[in-house]
Parts: sequence; C-alpha cells; structure tokens
Amino acid sequence: MTPHINASLNDIAEIVLMPGDPLRAKYIAENYLEDARLVSDVRNMFAFTGFYKGVRISVMGHGMGIPSVSIYAHELIHEYGAKKLIRVGSCGGVAEDINLRDIIVVNAASTGSGTNRARFAGYDYASVPDFEMLKNCWQTADELQTKVRVGGIFTNDFFYGDPDNLLPALQKMNILAMDMESAALFAIAAESRVQALSIITVSDHVVKGGEMSVLERQTTFDQMMVLALETAIR
Ligand code: ADE
Repeated sequence: MTPHINASLNDIAEIVLMPGDPLRAKYIAENYLEDARLVSDVRNMFAFTGFYKGVRISVMGHGMGIPSVSIYAHELIHEYGAKKLIRVGSCGGVAEDINLRDIIVVNAASTGSGTNRARFAGYDYASVPDFEMLKNCWQTADELQTKVRVGGIFTNDFFYGDPDNLLPALQKMNILAMDMESAALFAIAAESRVQALSIITVSDHVVKGGEMSVLERQTTFDQMMVLALETAIR
C-alpha cells in the first residue's frame, strides 16, 4: 500500500491504462475488461484490474495536472512494478488542421512546467514516449484503420488564463494540442526505465472552439480505447 493506492502489491498489472477521470477507469473496466475488480479506491481515484484478450491489465485514473499524474505514476512504477503506462485522455486542439474528435498519438511533449527542468539539472528535457510503444500504436492504428495524428503537444500547467505569449509560440512550433500530464508521465517513465505512451482525443479547440455531442465523445473515446488496448497487448 502507498499513501494514494490501497491495492495489495500483486493486484496491479504490469500494463496500466490511465484516463484522467476515475469514472472513466470504471467505464473502461466495465466495458473492455473481463473479470475486472476494484483494487484501489483511495480518494475515489479508482483502480481496476482485469483481462483484455487474456492479458492482465489495470486501469487507474491519474487526475488532473502534473502533480497528480506524477504521484500515481511514481507509486504504480516504484511500489507496484508497473512497466507500461498508457495515458488515455483528452486535450485541447491548438493547430489549425486539428479538429474536435481527432485522436492524437503524442510523439513529443513540450512543457512550461518546472518539474522536468528540476529533474534535468535545469536543462530543457525532450519529453518523449517510448519508441516501441509508439511504433506499436502506429502499426495498430494502421491495421484497425483508425485515423490518428502523430505529433508534438504542450503539457500546460494552466487550464485557465494562459500567458498571452503562449498560444502564438505553440502555433509557430506546430504544436498540435495541449494536455496537462504527458510531459511528466514520459519523464517519470524514462528515469524509471519503463515504457509510457499518450493517446489523447481532442475534446475542445482553444482557437477554433466548437463542441462535441455526447455520442461523438463516446464514439471517439471507444476508438481510442480499442487502439490503446490493442497497442498494450501487442
Ligand atoms: N484537456 C482537454 N482540454 C484541454 C485544454 N484546453 N487545455 C489543457 N488540457 C486539456
């Protein structure tokens, strides 16, 4: 047990899928895993463990923002032996050619957060996912004929009140979207020598606006989940 996870030591699988929202974790467990059971419920940040096509998989919420994902990723890796972490989340579109519902497979996560710089002796760390997982995801998307965009995102510490000069800089550097977790997840995985990947759907567009219907949200989420699960067991 850790301060934030009350699962028994062998109750967490080596593969952990991580949505931001713990109720998404419940939805994933109920709809995609077999024999899933609740293994942790501290702060209602639910974790479930079950099987997908015979492979043992856990799913646990990571909350919002770098401090939250960092706590859960650290404890999952260092206390529970997690080896492959896949964030399955949402993001805000930034690039003009990104649209609501697009699925982005992150190949680099820049950030304004000081945490990676602190980890990296003050230098600018290039936060990237595990290449093997990225390659597997690309091949899986191709086989499933799921359209994805692979590109760079920005992991933001702000949800409200971005600094005025942020958006033009992101657009200039062809950043596709913003999330609030990926850069930290990749860095923690790298320093712990485990594998991490982020697959995120565009839930809002910070430049173009627009809204998704409940049905559109669900369909996109389901596509992303199949991609993530098939990538995880590849
Ligand atoms: N996740 C979903 N939408 C977001 C946004 N606009 N900024 C950061 N993270 C997000």
